Amino acid sequence: MKRSEWMEVLAAHGQEHVLRWWDELDEAGRRKLSEQIARVDWSLLDLAAGHRVLPKGQIAPIDGLDLDEIARRREQFLRTGKEAIAQGKVAAVLLAGGQGTRLGSDAPKGTFDLGITHPLYIFEQLIRNLQDVVAQCGAFVPLYIMTSEENDAATRAFFAEHDDFGYPADHIAFFCQEMAPAVGFDGKLLMSAKDSLALSPNGNGGWYASLVRAGLAQDAARRGVEWFNVFAVDNVLQRMADPVFVGATIASGRATGAKFVRKAYPEERVGVLCLEDGKPGVIEYYELTPEMANLRDDCGRLVYACGVTLNYLFRADVLQKIADDRLPVHVAKKKIACLNEAGELVHPERENGCKFETLILDMIRCAGSCLPFEVEREREFAPIKNRTGVDSVDTARALLEKNGVKL
Ligand code: UTP
Repeated sequence: MKRSEWMEVLAAHGQEHVLRWWDELDEAGRRKLSEQIARVDWSLLDLAAGHRVLPKGQIAPIDGLDLDEIARRREQFLRTGKEAIAQGKVAAVLLAGGQGTRLGSDAPKGTFDLGITHPLYIFEQLIRNLQDVVAQCGAFVPLYIMTSEENDAATRAFFAEHDDFGYPADHIAFFCQEMAPAVGFDGKLLMSAKDSLALSPNGNGGWYASLVRAGLAQDAARRGVEWFNVFAVDNVLQRMADPVFVGATIASGRATGAKFVRKAYPEERVGVLCLEDGKPGVIEYYELTPEMANLRDDCGRLVYACGVTLNYLFRADVLQKIADDRLPVHVAKKKIACLNEAGELVHPERENGCKFETLILDMIRCAGSCLPFEVEREREFAPIKNRTGVDSVDTARALLEKNGVKL
């Protein structure tokens, strides 16, 4: 399309300023900007105007499988899970499209080296954990790795450079998630360059839609995959395609499963599994009232205690329905680098706009049923969000060593 046609599209949404530097752009720049404009989801922008919080339903505590019950039924779950994995019914999806801003590195988070005496990359540790399952079940688990436009090339190059850490190439595939535009508080699209909107990854809730777009959901179907185990890049003690978890979820007859740790203290910043209007869901830590966060049962245990570890199982047949239904969009106020009136890039010191994300935790509610499955914090939960302090490189290193990993 020509400038005048793009102008018409933009004018319909009050965004004519996007073409302010059009005349200065070369052919490649114009093409780039045109492609970005064509992909804007305009329905998102209305949300920015009022920074609306999504209404929550009636929240109540949820029951799940606790460690004791899992231990009691372990053999049965293990048998069921191993069989499903050996038959190729379980795939793993590694969410690695995030920006990892809190860790403060421009490189993909999974390339971070945790080693002390020798290199040990986050990706490497995750592949090792998956290899344990391969050894236990005698079958490779297809691994789909989600990246974003920002880190796709670097992630692929890193895996290639390290020969996929020994995982067979025909069982690994990469796919790229979509980007979403950011807006200022006035609802105007922000620009990161004269030929580019300020874009950021659209959240981890879009993983299935992006998997489909990349043709990989079809690949999984061809392989006979019936379950997707989706997990975050940053938990290095993560047990993925864990046969006991798989077996327990299959045995429960539910459409999803969620690994949780018992919250360590009321204010811990983890999402919490609960019932929302009677349906299983996940509530963000900032959505729990202080009363709910501190509520205890007769034995003194926290009532809202099932902290999600971002390790979910989804039965394949519910995923298309969830993707079709559209997840709620979360609007987050952020500091967003953008061009000023003079066309210079500025890095604001305070929040200056909003980013839009869909979140995987909302998929649980959309699925309609979920098995909360408890795991031991010390053995399965070492998230790396920050460089130091809580949930950091330091705490993850200590937990890895505690679990016998040489650093
Ligand atoms: P986080 O919520 O921790 O976000 O992601 P982040 O972007 O990695 O880190 P910060 O907040 O900027 O410091 C949880 C998981 O979801 C993935 C991340 O890669 C991580 O595995 N994720 C997040 C995506 O794959 N895409 C996204 O758009 C956002």
